[in-house]
Amino acid sequence: MSSKDSGKQEPTILGVAEAGVPYVAAGPDSADAARSPQYRPLNLARLAEQGMLTQEGGRSSVAEDFRIIKRPLLRQARASGAEAIRHGNLIVVTSAMPGEGKTYCAVNLAMSIAMEMDITVLLVDADVARPSVLKVLGLPPEPGLMDVLLDPQLAMGDVILKTNVANLSILPAGRSNKHATELLASRAMSRLLAEIASRYSDRVVIFDSPPLLITSEAHALVGQMGQVVMVVEAETTTQHAVKEALRQIESCEHIHLIYNKTKSFPGNDYYGYGYYD
Ligand SMILES: Nc1ncnc2c1ncn2[C@@H]1O[C@H](COP(=O)(O)OP(=O)(O)OP(=O)(O)O)[C@@H](O)[C@H]1O
Ligand SMILES: [Mg+2]
Repeated sequence: MSSKDSGKQEPTILGVAEAGVPYVAAGPDSADAARSPQYRPLNLARLAEQGMLTQEGGRSSVAEDFRIIKRPLLRQARASGAEAIRHGNLIVVTSAMPGEGKTYCAVNLAMSIAMEMDITVLLVDADVARPSVLKVLGLPPEPGLMDVLLDPQLAMGDVILKTNVANLSILPAGRSNKHATELLASRAMSRLLAEIASRYSDRVVIFDSPPLLITSEAHALVGQMGQVVMVVEAETTTQHAVKEALRQIESCEHIHLIYNKTKSFPGNDYYGYGYYD
């Protein structure tokens, strides 16, 4: 990973996520979390049945993919002194087009990071028009981000859900709103992000987001994030779409790419890091 003189970093390819099954880290139930009215245990057995990986075992290649993917993100999130990145612990996962795997990568990345002993993760569903994080995790819709932005009486802590996955909390998208883009670009959102970024310095916040080329919400979000992860669907996303999406997020200095849904075959080493040309 290199920096240019301008300080602007070349987009880096974090690695590849093989087409496979999502995984979930099954953490021990926290007694404190379980007492909270915001406690929503994830049905890990059901998730495992759907092919998701848990800490107890299962398919390891997805775990390995995300272990590789998270490293540079965590390094930058935790950088200090001259290396520190503003809001480096705020990481948005986006892509050019729908269906490329943003939610899949955001959930798995959050799960993978939550497995680190000393890092707590907040997974935010910022795809406010078509939320799917709770659905993927088998939970019903709940109030969340939009509600906090609209109601000054509502604190973020009132809507953040605690789970039985160690170190993982979730901020749902909440009620849909036709002014979602304006809300995401609003001062209230900047204040909220500053609060989220600084309240716990050891916390990493992963935002799931809508596609860049279809909506304007993702663009509004990217400008306020320390790091952007752009998911590119193998053999599907066109070069034109990738270039246009990169152009839209060029305001962020720390862009990473995930090449998603790759097909593996024996003997092939897909795990490579490099620069995006
Ligand atoms: N690496 C992968 N291996 C297997 N399935 C995957 C992978 N990545 C994504 N998928 C599947 O592809 C579908 C689309 O993924 P996902 O919902 O994450 O895309 P998205 O970019 O969030 O879409 P949208 O723009 O509609 O929100 C889902 O069924 C998901 O489970
Ligand atoms: Mg999605």
